[in-house]
Amino acid sequence: MLTREENAMLTQTGPGTPMGDLFRRFWMPVMIATELPGPDCDPKRLRVMSEDLIAFRDTSGRVGVVDAYCPHRGAPLFFGRNEEDGLRCVYHGWKFDVEGACVDLPNAPEGETFKTKVTITSYSAVEKGGIIWLYMGPKEKQPPLPGFRFMDVADSQRYAWKIHIECNYFQSMEGDLDASHGPFLHSILGDNSKNQQVSIRRSDPGSLVDKAPRYAQIEDTEYGTMSVTSANRPDGELYLSVSHWMAPAFTTAGSDIKVSQNNMRVPIDDKNCMFWRVRFNENEPLDEKELWQMKHGGWLYPPLQAGTYTGVDNIHNDYNIDRVAQRNYSFTGIKSFSTQDTALIESQRGPIMDRSLERLVSADEEIIRVRRHLLKMARDLQEGKDPASNPTGYNKRVARFNVPRDTDISAFMKGNMAVVNR
Ligand code: FES
Ligand SMILES: [Fe+2]
Repeated sequence: MLTREENAMLTQTGPGTPMGDLFRRFWMPVMIATELPGPDCDPKRLRVMSEDLIAFRDTSGRVGVVDAYCPHRGAPLFFGRNEEDGLRCVYHGWKFDVEGACVDLPNAPEGETFKTKVTITSYSAVEKGGIIWLYMGPKEKQPPLPGFRFMDVADSQRYAWKIHIECNYFQSMEGDLDASHGPFLHSILGDNSKNQQVSIRRSDPGSLVDKAPRYAQIEDTEYGTMSVTSANRPDGELYLSVSHWMAPAFTTAGSDIKVSQNNMRVPIDDKNCMFWRVRFNENEPLDEKELWQMKHGGWLYPPLQAGTYTGVDNIHNDYNIDRVAQRNYSFTGIKSFSTQDTALIESQRGPIMDRSLERLVSADEEIIRVRRHLLKMARDLQEGKDPASNPTGYNKRVARFNVPRDTDISAFMKGNMAVVNR
């Protein structure tokens, strides 16, 4: 449970808000690199943390991300001409380069000298790992790029996917930190052993059987938190699962041992976010079958409306819930694994959940810890203390272990950290 004030601090990321200031100290993924397909391509609209922006590529392929509105009389730069090394406002012809400098001011005699006094807000943008990353904070505080492992693998070994989620970023991310929902929300009725959801989750035998996994350990780290859940296996052993949350809104949820995953939430505004999921295999190209699903939709990747990042099954059509399937086949009657989550999170008392009304239990411990961690970082920053986050720590791996029931988990983890750090 949070107070109303804490909840507001946690969920508001617009300019000048405490959490907004904190998020602006991190690089955030904002576009799949191919959304800006080449030099001088069409400009694209972007909305990040309640700021309206325009992204474009200049003649040499550099990415520029600038305010969506021209500093002259506020005209929309979306309609701008992407010309030789700059974006020109079509209202009176002012032109800006990727750094935000006004390079031409042709509608007034004093333009040649006055243009040096004019700039448009522009943010640092870098392309890496098939993604365009944006840094919206103070220039002198710009951190190194995040050290996610997927950034350095070949294109064939990685797929970046994103979907617009119609709720607050934290609400979306909380689902990743919620260890006890899986055996309910994502479960299948009866023996549907040929169903892919079942076969995939066979790799997770503990959580299939034990409906009340416990947090055996949650530790604050240099990058966020590491958590270890334990669940009883049918053979009498314990199943341990290690996962990570990385400040400010990144997780390892959905990883399996062979194919890793990083989830990233980027606030669009306080009631919308972009949910990024990057799947990657460090050793070989991604499986064709999985790639097909990512591109066209399947059990893990819901289909998107053509040319958009909006799900076909969405809040406006009740996710096309199938009540017959819900009675006979799956717990929810909602098709895709990921849409099952979306259906629940997008309206937890609305798009910005009032956390003063909730009743948490021990299964929610990671949620509580991450909220506290993030709120502390935001408060510290307000007091002038820079976030002590180490983006190189974003390379941590998930791990799974089967151990005897009486294992001292904290000692076991100390001895097995090489698996996480490998
Ligand atoms: S409003 Fe853009 S040049 Fe006048
Ligand atoms: Fe889920």
